[in-house]
Amino acid sequence: MKGKRIPIIAANWKMYKTISEMEEFLSQFLPLISDIEDRKVVIAPNFLCLERMVSISKGKNLITCAQNMYFEEEGAFTGEISPRMLKAIGVSWVILGHSERRHIFGEDDELIGKKVSSAVSHGMFPILCIGETLEERERGETGKVLKKQLKTGLSRLGAEGLKNVTIAYEPVWAIGTGKTASLSQIQEAHSLVREEIKKLGGEDIAEKIRILYGGSVKPDNVKGIMELEDVDGALVGGASLGVDSFIKIVKFDEN
Ligand code: 13P
Repeated sequence: MKGKRIPIIAANWKMYKTISEMEEFLSQFLPLISDIEDRKVVIAPNFLCLERMVSISKGKNLITCAQNMYFEEEGAFTGEISPRMLKAIGVSWVILGHSERRHIFGEDDELIGKKVSSAVSHGMFPILCIGETLEERERGETGKVLKKQLKTGLSRLGAEGLKNVTIAYEPVWAIGTGKTASLSQIQEAHSLVREEIKKLGGEDIAEKIRILYGGSVKPDNVKGIMELEDVDGALVGGASLGVDSFIKIVKFDEN
């Protein structure tokens, strides 16, 4: 079954890299992925880098992804970027509900659900991030939290819309901490996510949807994570900022 899901290795650059630093990265990185056909490579730089990244990577094996967007098309929403604006510069992928958006900027499941639905209705491909905090895990609430985040985050979509969505499971306590979740914790969470998707959209969608793992993914742990049955890719923060480490993660099966 897994064989039918093309893996996605995605970089979330967060608030790192200027436009010229992005150009320098791509000048080294793009030649290294030119022969890759069996996986999707995605980079989400900051908004300022998007347009230039789209143009540099035209015809190359790289998908340019935004890190966030608002759900409205336009209006008096100071500081926000809309799906229409992203589409206009050729960006169709967007990370939504990242843990830093939830915990630093106060985004809740309702808002994230509106964003996911808006992205899909604009023909975009959202990567919906979910994940429990350490306290929630210690209280034994991981399953409950993930189910709520999925249910509310996807509530405005029909089965058809779900086809555009990728899920990223990122336990909050594993992000930027060097603490990766254990392989059994990852598989358990991913299989729960797939079960929930089955309930929301049916068996066929659940078999096709891609579930990425994020949280201290590094060149030396990516292979084991990618071998797990319900893991279809990785969403990488810190280790995606250097060409040497990110290319090792992209080529996880050659390590
Ligand atoms: P790190 O890989 O730095 O832990 O970050 C993970 C993440 O938040 C990706 O979205």
